[in-house]
Amino acid sequence: MFKVKTKDGKIFETKEESILQVLQRQGVYLHASCGGKGSCGRCKIKVLEGNIKTESFFGISEKEKAEGFVLACQSFPGGDILIEIPDKLITVSERISTVKTEIIEKILKEEILRAKALRMTSSLSFRGGQYPEESLFAPVVKKLSLKIDPPSFDSHGDFERLKRSIQKELFISRKLAEKLSYFLRENNWSINLAITEEEILDFLSKKIYGIAVDIGTTTVVLALVDLEEGKIVDVASCYNSQINYGDDVITRIIFAEENPEGLNILRKSIVDDINALINTVSLRNKEGKIYCAFVAGNTTMCHIFWGINPKYIRQEPYTPTLNRYPIWKASDCMLLLEPQIPIYTLPSVAGYVGGDIVSGLLTTGLYKDEETSLFIDIGTNGEIVIGNKDFLITASTSAGPCFEGSGISCGMRATEGAVESFSYNQKTDEFDIKVIGNEAPRGICGSGMIDILSELFSKKVIDQKGKFVTDNSKHIKIFDNEARFVISSDCYITQSDIDNIIRAKAAIYAGISTLLEEVGLSERELKKVYIAGGFGEFLNIKKAIKIGMLPNLSEERFIFLGNTSLTGAVLCLLSKNFWELANELAQKMTYIDLSRSKKFMDEYVSALFLPHTDWERFRELG
Ligand code: FES
Repeated sequence: MFKVKTKDGKIFETKEESILQVLQRQGVYLHASCGGKGSCGRCKIKVLEGNIKTESFFGISEKEKAEGFVLACQSFPGGDILIEIPDKLITVSERISTVKTEIIEKILKEEILRAKALRMTSSLSFRGGQYPEESLFAPVVKKLSLKIDPPSFDSHGDFERLKRSIQKELFISRKLAEKLSYFLRENNWSINLAITEEEILDFLSKKIYGIAVDIGTTTVVLALVDLEEGKIVDVASCYNSQINYGDDVITRIIFAEENPEGLNILRKSIVDDINALINTVSLRNKEGKIYCAFVAGNTTMCHIFWGINPKYIRQEPYTPTLNRYPIWKASDCMLLLEPQIPIYTLPSVAGYVGGDIVSGLLTTGLYKDEETSLFIDIGTNGEIVIGNKDFLITASTSAGPCFEGSGISCGMRATEGAVESFSYNQKTDEFDIKVIGNEAPRGICGSGMIDILSELFSKKVIDQKGKFVTDNSKHIKIFDNEARFVISSDCYITQSDIDNIIRAKAAIYAGISTLLEEVGLSERELKKVYIAGGFGEFLNIKKAIKIGMLPNLSEERFIFLGNTSLTGAVLCLLSKNFWELANELAQKMTYIDLSRSKKFMDEYVSALFLPHTDWERFRELG
């Protein structure tokens, strides 16, 4: 048994594990994009004292090697060691975009108006004309207060008399039946129940709460909702601990496939995360109890959450085990809730368009408009939906995780120390930066990358192919035979980074233009562009258009909706109509597999320039 000590005083015991595994086991999260395979070069730490055995030095320069840097995933203690973890390697709390309550209120208000209109004009029908206003706030779990008749000599049992008083056939679990007679007698035949359409979930002594959970590849966000008053009472979030096993869904699928316990490890990680969030909100809100959960996530995340191997999502023809999940119970997924609590999973459309996008669509409302709009969720993948009340078409582009900080030398998530905006003065060759938390720059987040690319291009520091014009700025330096634009000693952007960002923006734009062409529409015909995801909130639209990532439309047409996946799940919690609508929308959406589309490849190649090979599309901004 050896000791791994960190410079800031933590001590962990270990035996036959890599340094990365020791740290993961102790809850110290490092960026480990490749999941510990030694192929991303991200998990660099410095060994200050002691012996280690290192299997690979991938991505570590000779200079760094001399200074004691090693890859944590490829290094094994040979005795007690002292290490230093560079600050920017530790994943710290980021600006996790949470649910926007004002959006939920607005949607519900709109739906009430819409329901009124539907009643007046029955020819306009939604679900066969049934959209009564009073059912808009209709959670799947309700409170029912009853006073039932005391027993007489008619031979009816307590449960039969309870059912008779509500004139409904309901299931009661054996465990609950055990307590029924005592409870009724102790409470003078009055009882408050938490019920679904089919089942009695509990005898109530507290308020009924429900939870909506967004299982993101990077973050997990949970909203606690009071189902009696119809309002969000708390929100909590954390990293998805699966980050330890890879940044994106593909690396995690491979991890699940290649390690005998891989799927269980990933499943346990996400269940533990959600349980920690449940614990947090439950401790803060003791006057209620959770009786229902709606979960939204991409197809892989939902498969892993339910312990279903996502293996075939990665293999052609990219088929998930299921898109529509039965309403399983808390006991099936190891959540720390009463075992009989129903867990609803937002339906997926395909292997790469998941329930998070269907949930997001509920938030946009574009499915009921006459005119056509675009919905895009820019995360590790870029999922796109185009449509209106008559059609919905969707696709996913593999933009790669660069906008979330991966695969970029100084890339980082939108946390303290990240450059989030950048402007450059060509005359003075000086730049201005805005850093989250007003700290010294430690890296660059997605919005910062777009700003930098846009500014360097418009001020001719890089050309249309994204290549540095080396004479044009004193900030361009050559390091290890590669040009880089230096912001500070810790923060720079290299030629390969720029190439990477251009590939990502090209994939997003090509996805949008391919779908538009599928439906025979031009960019100008888009009424609105709804942008979801944490990245969207801080995106400078003009600059994103300038680099050719988004369609060239006026700024007012772009609407940021925050975490639409969570918002949609909250809507489902508040009303089963939204849950039914989510299932209808998922079935209505036509999925286009861009990996097999020649049109997409052509569009992608054309978009690998700044802003595009076809200048006309971006000639006049807006
Ligand atoms: S190189 Fe260590 S996690 Fe990728």
